[in-house]
Amino acid sequence: MICLLILGGMVLASCTRGDVVVADFEQANYAGWTVQGEAFGNTPVVGAVGNQLPVAGFAGKCLVNSFHGGDDARGELLSPVFTIERDYVNFLLGGGMGEGVCVALEVGGKRVYETRPVVESETLQWYSWDVKAYRGQQARVRIIDNQRGGWGHILVDQIEMGDRAKSVIVPDYEMTFPITQKYLLVPIEDKGPESQVVLWQDGEKRSETLYIRVAQTQVDYWMPIDVETFKGTELTLRFQHVKTTDIGYPQIHQSDAYEFNYQEPYRPAYHFSPYYGWTNDPNGMVWHDGRYHLFYQHNPYGSMWANMHWGHAVSEDLVHWQHLGDALAPDSLGSIFSGSAVVDEHNTAGFGRNAIVVLFTSAGKRQTQSVAYSTDGGRTFTKYEGNPVLTDPDIVDFRDPKVFWHETTRQWVMALATSQTITFYASPDLKSWHKLSAFGDGIGSHGGVWECPDLFPLQTPDGRTKWVLLVSINPGGPNGGSATQYFIGDFDGRTFHADDLPYPLWVDYGRDNYAGVTWNNVPDGRRVFMGWMSNWDYANQVPTVNFRNAMTLPRDLSLRHNGEHLVLAGMPVHETGTLRGQVVEYGTLHVSSKRENIADLLPDNEGCFELEMVLVPNGAAQFGFGFTNSRGDYFDYTFDKQAGTLAFDRRKAGLSDFSDKFAMQVKAPLVACDEYRVRLFVDKASVELFVNDGELVMTNLLFPREVFNSMVFFSSDLVHWMVKEFKVWPLGK
Ligand code: FRU
Repeated sequence: MICLLILGGMVLASCTRGDVVVADFEQANYAGWTVQGEAFGNTPVVGAVGNQLPVAGFAGKCLVNSFHGGDDARGELLSPVFTIERDYVNFLLGGGMGEGVCVALEVGGKRVYETRPVVESETLQWYSWDVKAYRGQQARVRIIDNQRGGWGHILVDQIEMGDRAKSVIVPDYEMTFPITQKYLLVPIEDKGPESQVVLWQDGEKRSETLYIRVAQTQVDYWMPIDVETFKGTELTLRFQHVKTTDIGYPQIHQSDAYEFNYQEPYRPAYHFSPYYGWTNDPNGMVWHDGRYHLFYQHNPYGSMWANMHWGHAVSEDLVHWQHLGDALAPDSLGSIFSGSAVVDEHNTAGFGRNAIVVLFTSAGKRQTQSVAYSTDGGRTFTKYEGNPVLTDPDIVDFRDPKVFWHETTRQWVMALATSQTITFYASPDLKSWHKLSAFGDGIGSHGGVWECPDLFPLQTPDGRTKWVLLVSINPGGPNGGSATQYFIGDFDGRTFHADDLPYPLWVDYGRDNYAGVTWNNVPDGRRVFMGWMSNWDYANQVPTVNFRNAMTLPRDLSLRHNGEHLVLAGMPVHETGTLRGQVVEYGTLHVSSKRENIADLLPDNEGCFELEMVLVPNGAAQFGFGFTNSRGDYFDYTFDKQAGTLAFDRRKAGLSDFSDKFAMQVKAPLVACDEYRVRLFVDKASVELFVNDGELVMTNLLFPREVFNSMVFFSSDLVHWMVKEFKVWPLGK
């Protein structure tokens, strides 16, 4: 009985024992701490310093912030000596993850812990040191910022001792699975941070770091890790760190099937989209042995940008695609950024006659160019052992090689994005490259970094050969964000000279056609283009689930005269004709009031259709057409001859709250004409408009809540105008 009482008394004592505060940094100075260097200033601060992002998650009013003098400033803080009186030291920590920043615990003059944030963040979170072994000993805390450059700062607050660890962070967390099935299924939360994980087998590293948004608070969807090759062995997932509160890790499990809702509402019906996961740029487009190959920037572990692989699909008609597995995965040189493919007919590289050779950017610490090849028609690819084949010590943005055979000089030519210029290189064998020239200073749009070039010849309407240079730029597009500009000129195998035209000129004046390039090696002199149908302004936020983003329709490019000057025109390839169902012919409409409606545009409209018509404005200065649905969603095109603009308005076209950059008016310059020939392709989440045989193109995304099946024609004045040769086709698979 006496024993019990004593025991009870002890438990009570340890429950009520409070935390001991080592430092709360609430005073107007560093109260007894030794300050060295610039980075920590002279006092704790109330939050962010200078132009720092907002700082959150600290206790009380003030914290330690080493952003004084920016990221480059360095310094150190050393606490007074204190005695360790509890089992744990808990503290709040944030800032950068670099080697040069840390909080250290020194006991008896020896460093026993050195801790740095596990994520780069201006939000502090709890970390804990287990100090049971040091109870009763003398200790000091040292806060170090010896790191320059991005995230070269540290945030610390509320250092206290207690009998409980406050941190929920578990560094180096491992999960081991005896592999019996094809996939490991991982629950994903798009708005959560990326976890870093490496696959290990028998003590050997079997993957590069994968960046996966393992669910922390809710499961948005699942992604598979293909573990087929590990069957019959034990596979360990080693996470850089996890939190004990994350709900996702315990749910990771094996499965032979990966099932998901492929037909989610905004899955395009006839545009190329990845089977699952994220895509951006189309890559490595090449025709080989009767098939069009399309590779694409692909994240197979989530629907947001990360882990760049090359996804792969093939088609015989550019419209119906067969998904193949990923062709290239990240390696020790980096992840696989954009690039191109050629058919090496004469075996210049020595990989084999007619090998498909791909050149891509290895995006590691630096961007360099690498080579891989396939001798089985694109089924499998081998990376060249001499990679990388092209490096530059100075240029940071050094990427997206587009390679083609230049017949006149009998050499391979590469167009490469180099900061805000395009640099041309040449090679006899696709492996050794030398610089030819650079283009871009003082011409065109320079609102952002230059990316994804392409250079190819086209015939002018009067039969001359001209060279077209495509350059994608982000930001700086005509309607904001990303867009692709072009130059028309001459290329002699060494230098590109641009003709005198009113640059910048844009491949597409819509918001959603970026990083587009053309297929190599297509027969019959065709020049077929495809772009990424999105915009970096909101590509990671668009409201889809298991996949994100799609490609534009493939388009035949040509040079045309638009009445003012030569332009690059793009029209959907004729193969899109195979998608057409039963035509509905409207013939000629006379628009004599300010609004004329067509209530039911198509029977059984599933939201995918093509429309063709000729608009004859007569005297109308401002006229156009729009679409509505039963939910009141609406978008329209307004031709304004007076202002010389064509405006597209998707502000009320459906979902737009995922980004404040999405719902806006989009404008293009309009040439004055007596008639405008219009073709419009509507899919589940996009509209592509082609005016006058593709002299003016606008590609835009929209996310309607219901199928658009009503049309309206309008004009600003009571002028009688006309719509001729008006036809609509439902489009299917
Ligand atoms: C263009 C781009 C390319 C790069 C790729 C990375 O959208 O930034 O320059 O190679 O995306 O995914």
